Amino acid sequence: MMRSLLVVALALCAVHCNGFIFGHGSKWTNLKVTWGINPLSSTSFVAMPLTETDAKSQGFQKISDCGDSSGLHGIRYVKDNDMNLILIYDVQGHIAGISAAVPTNMANGWPHAFLKGHPFIKSGNHHHISAYFVDPAIICASGRTTALYHQQGVGTDLYIQNGTDPIADSIKIPHLQSGITSTHWTKGKCFPTMGLHYWYNIRKDMSCDEFYPSFLLYNGGKLNAFGWAFIADLTSSRLEHPPQSAISGFMNPVPDCLLNAGKLSTMHIYLSDNPVLDTC
Ligand SMILES: *[C@@H]1O[C@H](CO)[C@@H](O)[C@H](O)[C@H]1NC(C)=O
Repeated sequence: MMRSLLVVALALCAVHCNGFIFGHGSKWTNLKVTWGINPLSSTSFVAMPLTETDAKSQGFQKISDCGDSSGLHGIRYVKDNDMNLILIYDVQGHIAGISAAVPTNMANGWPHAFLKGHPFIKSGNHHHISAYFVDPAIICASGRTTALYHQQGVGTDLYIQNGTDPIADSIKIPHLQSGITSTHWTKGKCFPTMGLHYWYNIRKDMSCDEFYPSFLLYNGGKLNAFGWAFIADLTSSRLEHPPQSAISGFMNPVPDCLLNAGKLSTMHIYLSDNPVLDTC
């Protein structure tokens, strides 16, 4: 009796307990965007199409192709002209990254010159920030075969493009939290359903002109989510607008400048199926 119960439990677990048994982030199994208070809401933790075919059938439209622009790598899609959420596919149509673009004419002048060229790449009337989930060198070259994509999942590593050359200037983010301690990424706060936040080179007395618009999230010691944080009042429904009072729940220290920087627009980007399990 006990033995057959155990067999049933293990069989169920093989299907459902991946995250528990093998640990968070051992394989990135999904791409979900936007944090929300209600995990069951249709507007939070929204799964994105992982292939170009699915993107098209969900109404995404191509905005640029490999080779169109040296600074904007991969095959890029948006839905309903929402430039705050750009999905990037490789030449074989598999998910390869995500990007966000902000208008060049923001009322508050953001982003400051400090961020122009790295990480923001100007194209037309937008500044683009891009992250890749595989080595950027393969995206417009071989891409990933279906077999490789199934084996690897959504990606192998997180690369943030921090310069005009997507291949040479993309920073590979350490998969393990132990690898981030020797960098300028500073440990912030744990927030369940997000993870342990890391912000780039944050100081209490810093200028917000320097505020790096991306953050990393570790759970169980592994990178399994990240996000954007813009000092800009943007309108996409995929963005979050944390109130000033919430900022101390994510950062330590909180830069003084952020407290009167105006409305923030953020996006949490999850590489797993179950962000509710992200308890740091
Ligand atoms: C991005 O590049 C700029 C300019 O080289 C550099 O100062 C900054 O530290 C880089 N950011 C990251 C996250 O490495």
